[in-house]
Amino acid sequence: MNIHYLTLFPEMYEGVLGTSILGRAKEKGIVSYHAVNFRDYSGNKHNKVDDYPYGGGAGMVLKPEPVFNAMEAMDLKSPRVILMCPQGRPFDQKMAEELSEEEDIVFICGHYEGYDERIRTLVTDEVSIGDYVLTGGELASLTMTDAIVRLIPGVLSREESHQEDSFSTGLLEHPHYTRPREYRGMEVPEVLLNGNHRLIEEWRREESLKRTKERRPDLLSDQ
Ligand code: ADE
Repeated sequence: MNIHYLTLFPEMYEGVLGTSILGRAKEKGIVSYHAVNFRDYSGNKHNKVDDYPYGGGAGMVLKPEPVFNAMEAMDLKSPRVILMCPQGRPFDQKMAEELSEEEDIVFICGHYEGYDERIRTLVTDEVSIGDYVLTGGELASLTMTDAIVRLIPGVLSREESHQEDSFSTGLLEHPHYTRPREYRGMEVPEVLLNGNHRLIEEWRREESLKRTKERRPDLLSDQ
């Protein structure tokens, strides 16, 4: 998979994409990351990327030329082009699974300003990572990248497996315990110690359900 970011702040990507599992996925050759500064494609001598809104009003609007020019320079065959914006479809695990099968993904990340409406003709999806407003789409695109890349076959080791993640199963995960068996008076539940796998599975399923009912009853009514 090749992931492209159209951004005014490519330096925001280096640390995150070079670290831990995202960095390892790149080293293994499973994914490549390309942060492109669309200011380089402004098409004007002052490298201006935004302008005043027609009709007046507060705030600046991202001009269409830098984004169109940068997209044309990339010359991708059939990419998913994702516009990061708070008005988009809410990102979830299902969308991460779907996107993990793509060959090319482009994230368009605006900063401070709105997008000229004509930019939307380049876009296949408009996505929000939650009902709050960020200063720009960069952190949102990194969040999505993290959720997507870990699902690509070969990225996670067996120990890191995502089969039983919260949301993949439709339920939140059951509680986990490791050694020591007793810590500051808190005991590991007996059922996990007796080696009876049928009972352990039953307990985990019940705890999953209980946790989902308590914390995210909306997930149960979605099923
Ligand atoms: N840009 C600003 N806020 C955002 C959000 N919540 N999701 C995606 N992109 C954004």
